[in-house]
Order: sequence, then structure tokens, then C-alpha cells
Amino acid sequence: MKPPGVWKALVTPVGHNTELFLQDYEMMRAVIFRQYGDPKEVMELVDDRKVPRPSANEVLVKVESSSVNAADRHMVQANYLIIRLLLGLLRPAEKNRVLGMDVAGTIQAIGDGVEGFEVGDAVAADIRKSLGGGFAEYAVVKAADLVRIPAGVSFEQAATVPISGQAAMMGVILCGIDSGDRVLINGASGGVGSFAVQIAKAQGAHVTAACSAAKVDAVKSWGADEVVDYESASVRDLGANAYDAVLDAACFRSPGDFSETLKEGGRYVLVGGSYYNMLRVKAFGRWYARGTQQFRGLTQEVEVAANIQRVFGMIAQGKVEPIIQKTVPLREVPGAISSIGQRAVVGKIVVNNQR
Ligand SMILES: NC(=O)c1ccc[n+]([C@@H]2O[C@H](COP(=O)([O-])OP(=O)(O)OC[C@H]3O[C@@H](n4cnc5c(N)ncnc54)[C@H](OP(=O)(O)O)[C@@H]3O)[C@@H](O)[C@H]2O)c1
Repeated sequence: MKPPGVWKALVTPVGHNTELFLQDYEMMRAVIFRQYGDPKEVMELVDDRKVPRPSANEVLVKVESSSVNAADRHMVQANYLIIRLLLGLLRPAEKNRVLGMDVAGTIQAIGDGVEGFEVGDAVAADIRKSLGGGFAEYAVVKAADLVRIPAGVSFEQAATVPISGQAAMMGVILCGIDSGDRVLINGASGGVGSFAVQIAKAQGAHVTAACSAAKVDAVKSWGADEVVDYESASVRDLGANAYDAVLDAACFRSPGDFSETLKEGGRYVLVGGSYYNMLRVKAFGRWYARGTQQFRGLTQEVEVAANIQRVFGMIAQGKVEPIIQKTVPLREVPGAISSIGQRAVVGKIVVNNQR
């Protein structure tokens, strides 16, 4: 428990001076990992992690909800050198030991130079650039990354959007979908796919979704016009010149496999899958294209914060509903990350700090 005086100060800042109310002894609960490996073995809930301090142009957010992403699994397992270069070569550096790439909560303290936000504002953010921090009671967020959560969107719903919802929105935008276009969404049963199916439908597309057999009914219930089980059907079975766009959230085969099923002038957008394929599409995308087709990966040309806002707007208007398979407390984060690797997730797993 925090001393009452400090707690009061956290919710009642004096001016913008965070030093006055963030004491060194202040601790919080957080899920940390000290070494790389199986999340269930190397991650644990502690209650003595220091509350981080916001610097200039940052705020401190009291995290109400976060959500579990494929990125958390990649980081805790650190099977790729690039991750070890970012987090720490042999083990994660002390400052990088809390994962959790998206946060939704209320602002508790404001660093110098932050304009337009007040203590108590309900906000969400993609905090990948800070290498996480969401699986904790408090997280520091750059003011530039903050997005207000509108009325009608709960903290749990908001926590599904910064990574998965915005990536789906960016993918759909890059697919350049017009009403009536035929769109294939590969990896439709996951966090990104569950948003992509609904966003593409809301844009008037005819959506074919691909996922594993066990999840076909769920994906159909999200509005997909057709659902194919990729375990029994190959890309060739989808027919030649069949799709105006492919949004691929599960590229584990060669991206070139899709060039035949894409129409002339069709767009293939890789959102996720193997790192190797992501690099291949970024570097050599045009090699896969037949004629005027385009093959590309996600880019930041469409702003992350703007996409989060777009998805929030669609949720508030009832056009999109975040698919939350279950909500778990902080202590169950390691198991939730493991279940992503076991392909046991349908939509999103949300972490609720009040539980
Ligand atoms: N660039 C970005 O901004 C960004 C943002 C978010 C996510 N991503 C990436 O996008 C990908 C999807 O993220 P997510 O959050 O949706 O993950 P997720 O919730 O774990 O869902 C993964 C999806 O991929 C499918 N899948 C998994 N392994 C597969 C395989 N070997 N062959 C075919 N399909 C497979 C799953 O289908 P079944 O479970 O039905 O088998 C599921 O539909 C990840 O690679 C993630 O890193 C990128």
C-alpha cells in the first residue's frame, strides 16, 4: 500500500513539478523478467518496482488496462538478435524489464513542456518506442504518443487498440479498399485480424478471412463473408485473380504465393508473420508483384496516433467491437503471453489492473 499522503499527491499535482509528489520510496506492482526464455518461467509479478518518473514532454499514466501482443512474446523469448540488441544482449537491461506495449488509463502526473493534457484525462498509447512498460500499475508515456479515449470506449476496449487496432487500420488504409472490393485477410483470428475483418467490412469490402479450423465460427461471427481454414485450403485453392487486396497478418509462407490470387493492380500488405518475410517484403516487395500489383509492409506514413483515434471513433460509433477473449489480472500475464505462442488466442487478451 502507498502512504496516504503520497497517494493524494499523485492525484493532486502541484503545478507541473513531478518532483514534489514522486518519492523515491514509491513502489508499484509490475510483471518483470530478468532473463529471456519461456514467459511462464522467467516472468513474475513483483510489488517493489519503482514508479517511473516522467521527464520533460512525458506524462505518468495510472494503467487501468493493457493487452497482450505478439511483440511481448518475441521480446521475452528474444529469439532474434535485433531484440537482444534493443533490450540487452545476454539479459534484459534493468530499465527494459517490464513489457506491455499498449496502455489505457488516466494521467497522474505531467512533466515539463506537456501541453493540452491534464491530470485525470483518460488516455491510451502505443509505447513500443519505449520498449514497453504497460504490465505495471504506472507507466511513463511520451506526450506526443497520447490519444484521448472518447466517451463510449472503456479502458479495456481502449487497451486493445494501440497495437492491434491501429495496425489493422493502417493495413486496411494501405490496402486502399473501395466499397465492393474483394479482400483476403490472412491471420484473421488474432488481435490484428479481428479488427481488420471488421474495419474492412465497415468500408464496404467483401471479406474472405483465413484462420485455423477451430476459430472459423468465431471469425464468421465478426462479419466475414467467407472464412477459409488455411489448414485444409492452400492459397492456390482461392483461385486466380480473385482479390483486390490481401492484408496478411500471418505471413509464414512466401509472400509471392499471393501474387496469383491477387488481381492485376491488386495490393498486398504485410502486417505480421515471420521477421524474415517482413524484411523480404520491405526490401524486395516489387519482385513478388505481377504487372502493376503492389507488395508492401506497414509503414509509418499513416500516423499511429491518428489510426488509434480512427479506431476509437469506430468503436464509439458501434462500427467495430474489440474482440476480447478474456480479461486477466497482472499476475496472469505470463500465461497469457504463452497462450499467444500456442495459438490459443481468439482476438485479444486484456489485462485489467483492478482485478
Ligand atoms: N507492424 C505492426 O505495427 C504490428 C502491429 C501488431 C501486430 N503485428 C504483427 O502482426 C502479426 C499478428 O499479430 P496479432 O496480434 O494478430 O497476433 P495473434 O493475435 O497472435 O494472431 C496471430 C494470427 O496468425 C495466425 N497464425 C499464427 N501462426 C500461424 C502460422 N504458422 N500459419 C498461419 N497462420 C498463423 C493465427 O491463426 P490461428 O490462431 O487461427 O492459427 C492468428 O490468426 C504478428 O506477427 C505481429 O508481430 C505488427
